[in-house]
Amino acid sequence: MFTRVISADPLSPDHSGLEYAAKLIKNGDIVAFPTETVYGLGASGCNEDAVKSIFAAKGRPSDNPLILHFSDIGMLDRYACVNERFLKLYEIFMPGPLTCVLKSRNTAAPSVQAGLDTVAVRFPVHPVAREFIRLSGVPIAAPSANLSGRPSPTSWEHVYDDFAGRIPLIIDGGMCSVGLESTIVTVYDGNIRLLRPGGITLEQLRGVFPDIKVSDAVLNPPAPGSRPESPGMLLRHYSPKAPFYLVKSADPKKLSDFFREKSIEPGNIIISPRMEDADYDYLCLGGPEDYEEQARNLFAMLRKADSMGAVNIFAPEPPDGGVGLAMLNRMLRAASFKVIQI
Ligand code: TXA
Ligand code: MG
Repeated sequence: MFTRVISADPLSPDHSGLEYAAKLIKNGDIVAFPTETVYGLGASGCNEDAVKSIFAAKGRPSDNPLILHFSDIGMLDRYACVNERFLKLYEIFMPGPLTCVLKSRNTAAPSVQAGLDTVAVRFPVHPVAREFIRLSGVPIAAPSANLSGRPSPTSWEHVYDDFAGRIPLIIDGGMCSVGLESTIVTVYDGNIRLLRPGGITLEQLRGVFPDIKVSDAVLNPPAPGSRPESPGMLLRHYSPKAPFYLVKSADPKKLSDFFREKSIEPGNIIISPRMEDADYDYLCLGGPEDYEEQARNLFAMLRKADSMGAVNIFAPEPPDGGVGLAMLNRMLRAASFKVIQI
């Protein structure tokens, strides 16, 4: 299969390209599209065969449900039971990088929910995503557009690396501005629970709902044999091909000594925020205080280290709080929870 790539300007999405993308969706095909978080691998959320083909293309286990993406809240009621907490979150954070798990009306393609009685819904703010969904006329079921287990894609090139020859179309909408997947909360039973930290921070959510709970799955590996509350919260996920190690130390001098020593061995690659006085090579995540920039570049740097032939990859622990929680959640899984304490 030939994989076509079309560009869409986020400031004025070109209609002819997106109309072609929408035609493919109506035809039951898969289209990769940009969002503000990461690129998605989209198909009609109302077409069971199309949804199944996403699982097949990604190599995704069929018990891991997908998010339904909407351009317009008017369409939501048909698919999910809306409640007051959800509407409050909608008013403040959506469209944007937040996904809500609601009770389902079981009207979408069954594989979207993977056997659960809930459905995850999201309203991306990226103008290209919104226009693509609107023209498709159906909610778009989409996981992140990476092969199962790999770091999520934050540019069309990452999608191309994983899916060239396997999907008909990638829409290039530029680099993703958040760079980590959406925050996921459950809001269907009168409580609110954080399942996956992301672009909207725990502190922001706590400002609206001080009683928000945090799922154990956020910073802990799943208990052997258990089915996690969020089926995607696996032991190993977001992983580069080379083993990845998260390095913890309260002493910056010890940390830089450790990285210097590691950097001498060929194939060892360090990924770190900018360090003004580092006398060894490393891949820079961004400014030392610019946590948004660090989050935006994390997945791209993991992929870059692989493309440089990394044998081992090391990175320091991310900052506490804010988007640091989402970075830590991804880095722990990319490392299969391998943490080096020095
Ligand atoms: O930012 C994002 O959320 C991106 C873009 C493309 O929108 N999508 C994304 O999808 O990250 P995916 O499939 O890679 O991650 C979705 C996560 C999975 O961990 C899945 O288990 C969880 O959402 N999920 C989906 N439906 C759920 C449900 N009904 N209950 C609990 N977790 C659910
Ligand atoms: Mg994913």
